[in-house]
Amino acid sequence: MVKPVVDKPKAIDLSFMPSLQCDLSCAHCMYGSSPTNTAALDFEATKAFAETIDWDLINSCGFYGGEPGINLRMYQDFMDLIPRGIPKVTITDGTWSRTPGRTRKFVEFAERNDLQVFVSTTKYHTPFQDAERLAEVYNEHDRFVHKDGDGDEDLIPMGRMAVEDWSCGFRCITDDGPVRFALYPGGTIIFQTCDGVYPVVSTIAEPFGRLVEIYERIVGQCQTWRKQENS
Ligand SMILES: C[S@@+](CC[C@H](N)C(=O)[O-])C[C@H]1O[C@@H](n2cnc3c(N)ncnc32)[C@H](O)[C@@H]1O
Ligand code: SF4
Repeated sequence: MVKPVVDKPKAIDLSFMPSLQCDLSCAHCMYGSSPTNTAALDFEATKAFAETIDWDLINSCGFYGGEPGINLRMYQDFMDLIPRGIPKVTITDGTWSRTPGRTRKFVEFAERNDLQVFVSTTKYHTPFQDAERLAEVYNEHDRFVHKDGDGDEDLIPMGRMAVEDWSCGFRCITDDGPVRFALYPGGTIIFQTCDGVYPVVSTIAEPFGRLVEIYERIVGQCQTWRKQENS
């Protein structure tokens, strides 16, 4: 068993990004997703990694990319790797709301997988959604909610928002929610409790325990920097 990284149980939010393919190409996209970006997570390698996970440490599993709604079958395979009882969450651009058929399929997918669904609501997303049909979905299904935030002031400086210089707010130390990691296309694992460029902390070729060890080392280093900055 791996020791919990913070002093509360179930303290990791672990996300899976099966593909960066998307039906949109938002100007703010931190992962550079688009219709032609087909970078993907290898399913068998992810499955082998999942077998090493200490599920007692997992608070929830997230699924996004890329856009889950354009490849439900692929996302289903990855969701099937998660043991019963672990809460599952997805983030979607909501473009499926433009047709009744795609809306029905997405709602069925969410029901079947007992998903909490966050629908993105930025200025980059809403022009491609059907507001009326989405409102019906929110009314009829509590599991669908608006994803707030991601205003221009909250943007992570990666992908299409990459900048030369960004300032570290020591979020890895100050954030008191679960620690966030994501399995990224190509097989790296990124650390997301960060307000800069998400560091790669491990790969899915290494067992889960290694990820926790490296994470602890990195945050330890950040604590040292913070002390030096404050001294
Ligand atoms: C990468 S998208 C993937 C899921 C889906 N395609 C969508 O847009 O909802 C997940 C979330 O990340 C947000 N996002 C994208 N780029 C961002 C950035 N540079 N900073 C902060 N959030 C960002 C999106 O607005 C979206 O809510
Ligand atoms: S933010 Fe979401 S919808 Fe927009 S390009 Fe990125 S992955 Fe696609």
